[in-house]
Amino acid sequence: MAFVVFEGLDASGKSTLIKSVEEVLRQRNISFTTTREPGGSPLADKIRELILYPGDEIPCAKAELLLYQASRAQHVDKVIKPAIDKKEWVLCDRFTASSIAFQAGGRGIEVNEVKKLNEFSIDGNEPHLYILLDLEVSESAKRIAGREEKNRLDVEKTEFHEKVRQSYLSQAKEDPKNWLILDASKPTKNMLLEVISCFEERNYL
Ligand code: TMP
Repeated sequence: MAFVVFEGLDASGKSTLIKSVEEVLRQRNISFTTTREPGGSPLADKIRELILYPGDEIPCAKAELLLYQASRAQHVDKVIKPAIDKKEWVLCDRFTASSIAFQAGGRGIEVNEVKKLNEFSIDGNEPHLYILLDLEVSESAKRIAGREEKNRLDVEKTEFHEKVRQSYLSQAKEDPKNWLILDASKPTKNMLLEVISCFEERNYL
């Protein structure tokens, strides 16, 4: 089994790639759980709504970070850990690296504070692999503009998203053993081939 996390800017194509990976696992009779953050369990989904659509009172940066972490702790306890215990694969759309990219990189919270909270929330359930769908901010913005529904983070300034992208790239550079960087301007089928060969090299498949 493997616990694989997909990360990247909004509209980088994570959901479509995850669907293609699911298809590969299905063809090989591999059981898996697909999940996402923020959210992933009923309570964590309620926290997701609070974070992304808070109404009139916008959470301050620290409250926002803690809401993501509350969602994560619940999600790990109720969904991810049980799947790992059953030896299922876990495909997760965003995880701890998003908090480092958005709350430390984007919002400017001290990175070690975010890392400490990540550790506290995941309780040792570390992913085996992070897959970064790297995309130019301008391309991500173009794709988001075509969407009907936009959340609070989608409409942040270009500068914010640039910091998020740079944080992802430096996280991947600092820990190359655990990261695969994909060029998300390429078609999904090309990215999928890279993902499968990475899984094979790591003996996941
Ligand atoms: P998404 O589910 O459409 O990707 O939206 C979730 C948004 O939340 C996205 O803009 C990234 C952001 N986010 C954070 O800022 N920190 C986090 O820890 C996570 C998991 C997501």
